[in-house]
Amino acid sequence: TNPSEVSWLGTPISELKRMPECGEPLSPLKDVPGHHTVMIRTDLLKKDKVPVPYPTRFQDAWNDVHVKMPCSSRNLFPIEDEVKNAMLKYSPSHAKKWDFTALHLYCTKVNSIAICSFFLIPIPLLKAGMNHSITMSQEQVACLLANAFFCTFPRRNSRKTEYSNYPDINFFRLFEGSSAKKIEKLKTLMCYFKSVTEKMPTGLVTFTRKSLDKPPNWKSSQTPLTKLHITCEGTIEDDGYGMLQVDFANRFVGGGVTGSGLVQEEIRFLINPELIVSRLFTEALDHNECLIITGTQQYSKYTGYAQTYQWGGSHLDTTPSDGWQRRCTSIVAIDALQFRNFLEQFRPDRLNRELNKAYCGFARPEEKSQNLAAVATGNWGCGVFGGDTRLKALLQMLAAAEAGRDVAYFTFGDSQLMTDVHNMHSFLIQKNISVGKVYDLLGQYYSSECKNCLGRRPDVSLYSFIYQQVNSSVAPDDSNMGSARQ
Ligand code: AR6
Repeated sequence: TNPSEVSWLGTPISELKRMPECGEPLSPLKDVPGHHTVMIRTDLLKKDKVPVPYPTRFQDAWNDVHVKMPCSSRNLFPIEDEVKNAMLKYSPSHAKKWDFTALHLYCTKVNSIAICSFFLIPIPLLKAGMNHSITMSQEQVACLLANAFFCTFPRRNSRKTEYSNYPDINFFRLFEGSSAKKIEKLKTLMCYFKSVTEKMPTGLVTFTRKSLDKPPNWKSSQTPLTKLHITCEGTIEDDGYGMLQVDFANRFVGGGVTGSGLVQEEIRFLINPELIVSRLFTEALDHNECLIITGTQQYSKYTGYAQTYQWGGSHLDTTPSDGWQRRCTSIVAIDALQFRNFLEQFRPDRLNRELNKAYCGFARPEEKSQNLAAVATGNWGCGVFGGDTRLKALLQMLAAAEAGRDVAYFTFGDSQLMTDVHNMHSFLIQKNISVGKVYDLLGQYYSSECKNCLGRRPDVSLYSFIYQQVNSSVAPDDSNMGSARQ
């Protein structure tokens, strides 16, 4: 066959595991203080019925462990103030005479009643270092997103406040500028608002912040690599349905979604806008942390990418739901390091950081490997963040293997990358090379090829180096044969 006709290599994708088929039944959904905040009445949960918020009376919390809500009695009504200030600017001479009581009442009563009836218990902040989940209904998410659209979240319009380490949630930056990209973003979001206002979805969404307290001992790992399906066609979101889908994230989850960004993460947050709510309560991710979002729905299609992105009409999401009424779509936000200098990414401390970040995203120690869906990923950290695709593909394969998951890798049109990564994976499998051995080879590559490069690119590529090293030490695993290296 003509090599240009080959669109995938490795294990057929049909042999990789997906949810819901591979998963075990879930234990009943319940609120667990300190671990899982459930914002709806689980006892009243019914298929195809909009879930009921829990409990029945609004509990106001204006403190540093909960989201400050627009309906709080402590809110100083920034919207009202802004409108008032704008009016006064145009008519300074009237400033003293005008009375804004009606506007004040409108802002306190109408907006508060709407949002308070959806959120009766306060939303905890998912702060750095916390291991905590929040489950809320798609209706509650919609209510929060409507407030974000109208920029009503208090203390969230400036980065100088207590929320400086959180992503922006209010949409004000989405409305500025005249670029065509902004129009397409707005079309995509409007499609979501239209859909939920016409027919409110009835599912739940869970947001889980997770940190890795004990990183694996990479050097001593005997774990063999897992299966790899690699393709230059298709996308994580379309062809990775039911798998654990990687979001090539910013440490501020969602990156530039409410501003001008429009690459993998932002596009995913636009077509599945429920993801955007994570920005309300997720503090910037640390090196050993990830955020997992389960149950979001895709409302829009798109064409193009970055500058050429266009809204592609509404999308009917037919993903089945799990026992907690969540769509079987799990997305994991892991932020790669940004590299300006090519060599830097091969430094051992950087390798460890990326391995541990990916492992944190992929590992589920509480579950059996046979119940884990494959990881659907691609050129993580290799676009805007400037990483090397061949290195990152290898690192993700190591992390997935250690986590006991297979990998579906989407090269996004790059058929040479597909071939190279497939050949490397087959070679490592054929030679029985463990995770620990690959890790060791990465360290050797740095010390012998990168360390003394003084900024130039290394003469030998990583993959050539690995082939050379492994082939020159193929002698039987017998220590007397050490001379085989020469
Ligand atoms: N499916 C598979 N692969 C894709 C897809 C897709 N849907 N979309 C893009 N790619 P990038 P980064 C490939 O630059 O380097 C955001 O602003 C494509 O080859 O989004 O980790 C975040 O908020 C693309 O070049 O990820 C961060 O701030 C490559 O994936 C920052 O970008 C990398 O996509 C992260 O940058």
